[in-house]
Order: sequence, then structure tokens, then C-alpha cells
Amino acid sequence: MIEKQLVGEKAADYVKDGMVVGLGTGSTVYYTLQALGKRIQEGLAIKGIPTSRQTEELARQLRIPLVSFADISHIDLAIDGADEIDRNRALIKGGGGALLREKIIANASNELIVIADSKKMVHTLGVFPLPIEVVRFGWEMTAKHIRDLGCVPRLRLKEDHTPFITDNSNYIIDAHFHAIEDPHILEQMLNSIPGVVENGLFVGMTDKMITVKRGKIQVL
Ligand code: 5RP
Repeated sequence: MIEKQLVGEKAADYVKDGMVVGLGTGSTVYYTLQALGKRIQEGLAIKGIPTSRQTEELARQLRIPLVSFADISHIDLAIDGADEIDRNRALIKGGGGALLREKIIANASNELIVIADSKKMVHTLGVFPLPIEVVRFGWEMTAKHIRDLGCVPRLRLKEDHTPFITDNSNYIIDAHFHAIEDPHILEQMLNSIPGVVENGLFVGMTDKMITVKRGKIQVL
């Protein structure tokens, strides 16, 4: 079994009857959703709140009942992937472009379980370019302010070379920092730039991490 499947399915074990569950985005969470879909057919009663249109569509196909923020007062558990995880469990997220909704849902959840294959574990964040969601108006100026923080910012493009548009109708700038020594400070500095909606640094949010080491699942 591939590592993403191992950790994705393991995370589904933490979902219990009656929970409101934040459903992350990506190819690792794909396996969590498949496992949840199966358990729902067998009688598990949960409500899911998706972090992206892509996850919403997959959850509907799997007949996972969905709710919106208007219907709930809290989220019990969110399960999501990551692009990098450092030794303090700080994350880079947003490779799939869903970072804003992912952060809103992680922040609203009583618990965040992060699932990741072994390749995502790093000593220092930053080799993976940091995704930053920005409003379209004045994005060139916003990118200059981001560059002043010591990175090379690139507007994310689709295969047809037009800008990638998020579920919230914004752009993504991928910021090449190479090494992020203080993710907490950088997260705050980025979010204080006018035009930045949110960035993919998730600091102090991970409650549990499920990964693989030497072929074995690790829950940390
Ligand atoms: C999407 C994300 C994903 O969680 C992250 O990109 C990991 O994806 P995958 O599980 O496909 O490797 O943050 O915005």
C-alpha cells in the first residue's frame, strides 16, 4: 500500500459517530474520504464540511453528508494533508490552492490531524514554495511587498498559462524562500501586507500527525 493510502485510511479511524468533520483537500485526504465513504455505507453518521470545491464534489460522489458553517456551531475534527512539516509540526499547505478554506476550517476545529507521507517531513520549511492567496487587484504590487521579505514570488499559472484562480476567486503567489527560519513571524508579516488574503503557513495548529517511518505508520 502506498504511504498516502496508509496514513489517509489511518486518519479515518479517528472519526466517530456524530462528529462534524473538516474534510481536507488533496491526494492524501482522498484515501480518508474513500474510507469514510465506506464506513458511512456501513452506518457511520457524520457530517462533513469541505475545504474546497474539489473535496465537496468527491464527498458528494461518496455520499458523505455535507454541512456549511450556517448549519453548525463547531467542528470536532479536521483531517488534512500538508506539503511540508517541520520538526515543530509547523506546516506549509496550499499546494492544491485550498489554503484559505483549509485554514478557516482548521482554526474552527477542536482538533487537527495532519496526514503526510514521509517525503513531506523536513527540518526547516521552505524548499516547497509557500503558497500565498492574494486578491487580484494590484497583485503585482502585493508580489513586490512579498519579495521584500526575501523570496522569489511567482504567480501560479495553469497549464494553459492563464492564472490559477482559487475557490474564492483570488490568485496564488508561490513564494520561493528556500529556508523559513521563523514560520510564526513570517506568517504574521505576510498577512499584514494589504492584498494578502492568507498564506500557507500553519503554525501551532497541528494536534496530531500521522506519517510513515521505515514503512510503519507513526502517530505523533
Ligand atoms: C491543498 C493542500 C494539501 O493538503 C497539500 O497540498 C497536500 O496535498 P497532497 O496530499 O496531494 O500531497 O494544502 O491546498
